[in-house]
Amino acid sequence: MDSIIVTGGSPLHGQIPIAGAKNACLAVMPAALLSEEPLTLTNAPRLSDIRTMTELLQSLGAEVTHLQSGQVLALSGHDLNNVTADYEIVRKMRASILVLGPLLARAGRAVVSLPGGCAIGARPVDLHLRALEAMGAELDLREGYVHAKAPPGGLHGAEFEFPMVSVGATENALMAATLAKGTTVLKNAAREPEIVDLAQCLRQMGAKIEGEGTSTITIEGTDRLHGATHPVVVDRIELGTYMLAPAICGGEVECLGGRMELVGSFCEKLDAAGIHVEETERGLKVARRNGRVNAVNVVTEPFPGFPTDLQAQMMALLCTAEGTSVLEERIFENRFMHAPELMRMGASIEVHGGTATVTGVERLKGARVMATDLRASVSLILAGLAAEGETLVSRVYHLDRGYERVEEKLSAVGATIERVKGE
Ligand code: UD1
Repeated sequence: MDSIIVTGGSPLHGQIPIAGAKNACLAVMPAALLSEEPLTLTNAPRLSDIRTMTELLQSLGAEVTHLQSGQVLALSGHDLNNVTADYEIVRKMRASILVLGPLLARAGRAVVSLPGGCAIGARPVDLHLRALEAMGAELDLREGYVHAKAPPGGLHGAEFEFPMVSVGATENALMAATLAKGTTVLKNAAREPEIVDLAQCLRQMGAKIEGEGTSTITIEGTDRLHGATHPVVVDRIELGTYMLAPAICGGEVECLGGRMELVGSFCEKLDAAGIHVEETERGLKVARRNGRVNAVNVVTEPFPGFPTDLQAQMMALLCTAEGTSVLEERIFENRFMHAPELMRMGASIEVHGGTATVTGVERLKGARVMATDLRASVSLILAGLAAEGETLVSRVYHLDRGYERVEEKLSAVGATIERVKGE
C-alpha cells in the first residue's frame, strides 16, 4: 500500500487546477443507462472511484471508454444485458447504488447489492428505496441484495417527500423519474451542485425537469431519452481542500476553475478565520497573511450549509488556530476518525458524540499517521504541510478514490511531498 510523506513548513505559491467533481461524475455516469444513445462526459476526474463505476457499468453491458487520459468518458447504454450489480464491485463504493434507479426505469428490473464505501457511520439506503417504492417499484431484500421490480406498465410518477435530505436518494429518484409515466414531485430534495449538474445532464438528454437547486424538483416523465454531451461541474470539495492548503501553511494560491457559489458557506468560515479569499477571472485566490488564524465554530449541514466533506480538512486548519473551535458533525455519525490521528501530530481535540472541540496549538509536529477515509486522509496531508518535520500518511488508497495527482498538484505550488510505493 502506498504512503505519502509530507515535510511541513514551506509556504505555497502558484496555481492549482481543480478537476471535475467526483460526486457529480459518479451520478451522471449511471444516467447513461437511461438511454440507448451515447452519453459523453467531459471534464471527468481521473480517480479510482470513477474506474469502479466504469467497471460496474461495464458489468451491466454498458460501454465505457476513457478518452484523453480519462478526462473524457464515452458511455453507451445501448447493449444493456445484465441487471445485477454484484457485491464484489458494489462493496468498493457506496455510490454504486446509483445504478438502481436507472436500471429499474429502463429495464424494469434491478438486483443491486447493498453498498459498502467509507466507514463513516451506518449510511443506510432506505430513502433511495422508499422514493422508488413511491413510484411503484416492488422491493425485496434478500441475501444482501435489493431485488427491485417495476410494475407491469413501468414506474409511475409520484409525489415523494424525503424525511431527511439525501444527495444519493435524490439522484436515484431523479433519474428514475425521467422515464416514469407522469409527473414526479420530489420534496425536501437535496440542493447540492451535484444534483444541479445531474439535472442539467438529464435535461440535455431530453428529460423534463424543473426546480433543481431548490428543495422541490418536478420531473415530467418521457418515453425515451437521447444522447448528449455534458461537462462535469468543478469539484467543490477538491476546491475547498486546496483552498485550505495555503490557509494552513501560508502563501497565496489560485485555485483554477473555482467558483464562489460552490463554496459560499465554507468561504464565510475562512473569512472568519482570517483567511483572505478573492474571486479572480480564472478561479479563487486564497492568501494567508502572517500570524495565527482565528478559531471558528463549524456545523455541517446539507448544501448550502458547510459541507461534511470539508469538515476533516477544516479541522486540520483549526488545530493551529488561536483559541477554541467547536465542530459539530450533523450529517454522519462517526466522522471524526481523523481526530486521533491529528492528536498524534500534537493537536488538542476532544470528541463527544457528534461534537469535536479543538483547542489551537502553536505548531503541529510531524508523525506517522493512518488514513481512515477519503476526506480524513487529505486532512492529514494538509496538517502535515503545516507541521514541523516529516509526516508519513499510510493507507492512502482512500485518497486515490477522490483526489487525482495530489502530490503533483501540491508540489507544483512548492510543497515538499512525495509518494512512496508500497507492495
Ligand atoms: C453524498 C456524497 C458524500 C457526502 C454526502 C453528504 C456522493 C457519491 N457522495 O453521499 O461524499 O458526504 O453526500 O453530502 O455523492 N441516509 C439515510 N438513508 C438513506 C440515505 C442517506 O439515512 O437512504 C442518511 C445518511 O446516513 C447520512 C445522511 O442521510 O446521515 C446524508 O447522506 P446522503 O446525502 O445520502 O449521502 P450520500 O449520497 O451517500
